[in-house]
Amino acid sequence: MIISASTDYRQAAKRHIPPFLFHYADGGAYAEHTLRRNVEDLAGIALRQRVLKDMSSLSLETELFGEPMAMPVALAPVGLAGMYARRGEVQAARAAAGKGIPFTLSTVSVCPIDEVASAIDRPLWFQLYVLKDRGFMKHVLERAKAAGVKTLVFTVDMPVPGARYRDAHSGMSGKRAGLRRMLQAVTHPSWAWDVGLHGRPHDLGNVSDYRGQPTGLEDYIAWLGNNFDPAISWKDLEWIREFWDGPMIIKGILDPEDARDAVRFGADGIVVSNHGGRQLDGVPSTARALPAIADAVKGDLAILADSGVRNGLDVVRMIAMGADTVLLGRAYIYALATAGEAGVTHLLELFEKEMRVAMTLTGARSIAELGADSLVSGACSG
Ligand code: FNR
Repeated sequence: MIISASTDYRQAAKRHIPPFLFHYADGGAYAEHTLRRNVEDLAGIALRQRVLKDMSSLSLETELFGEPMAMPVALAPVGLAGMYARRGEVQAARAAAGKGIPFTLSTVSVCPIDEVASAIDRPLWFQLYVLKDRGFMKHVLERAKAAGVKTLVFTVDMPVPGARYRDAHSGMSGKRAGLRRMLQAVTHPSWAWDVGLHGRPHDLGNVSDYRGQPTGLEDYIAWLGNNFDPAISWKDLEWIREFWDGPMIIKGILDPEDARDAVRFGADGIVVSNHGGRQLDGVPSTARALPAIADAVKGDLAILADSGVRNGLDVVRMIAMGADTVLLGRAYIYALATAGEAGVTHLLELFEKEMRVAMTLTGARSIAELGADSLVSGACSG
């Protein structure tokens, strides 16, 4: 039964990769209420059907910070994406570039910035976490600049990591995790052959580059655990604003007051996001949070949104509620885990088709025409 591309790729990924990796992507924080609501609330937003409006010409094209985009979609930063396929970040970035959209490389990627930047013919977006080790932050920002990165995505919703109990159950973290992962890897021989047991598969490229030594999964979990910075405030971001002359997007905004602070700070954009339900369980879904944030800051900066987007219809819903660009997280990871670059390309093609159908049937000929009018009134009051 085909439900949607990301649902099918999710099922396929579950078979294809070891359980610890599947659950690392699939899981969320605590009891995963927010994770589920992200998907359900978004799917529940009613689109307004319009007919007989000559929809023979329709364009998904848009731009952000002067960068052309074939559709208002970008791939979100996902840590360890390089473990889902061989040199996974390069494969995903190639698929994104091939479809004319940006790819965001996570701070904690397997492939280093230079490797991914040089594999594509459009500027790479880079995501940075706030870490206690400011030397590391400076180091990666310099590497990003040198690699031609213009757009910086600065993630602020992780001053502490959310408790992800699935990771402890699956062997991603906790007691004898290394041994449990190894056992799972050998029972997934095609993954182990392709990604897991050759070379330095779990080496975190950007971190290793800084430390001057290979950084495996165990080192990474310990390093990151000690490095989150609960003391962070807007003031701490000022040096980055001064250091970074390209567009700066603050990721992890869920409240209109914080969105206004981002405008006051001088951010070029925000990502309305609850980190895919991986941080504070119980916070609202982005489908519920977005309309009030758009009311507060639309026009003052670019609004990006993610969490729970599983098909092209969801992208249309997010745009209609006020987003300028929508980020895909798990949706592309499932496809990458199943079929690498070809899988992500296929997924993006399906998103594009689904967006076209949704726009045709809501009577919007361009991204600019998508708005509150494209929804049944009251559809986004939550
Ligand atoms: C993430 N996300 C994330 N965000 C970020 O800023 N830096 C990161 O390194 C990561 N790592 C990461 C790993 C995995 C496995 C997932 C699933 C997510 C969050 C990501 O950018 C995005 O906000 C969510 O994935 C959006 O939710 P959906 O669409 O995946 O439900």
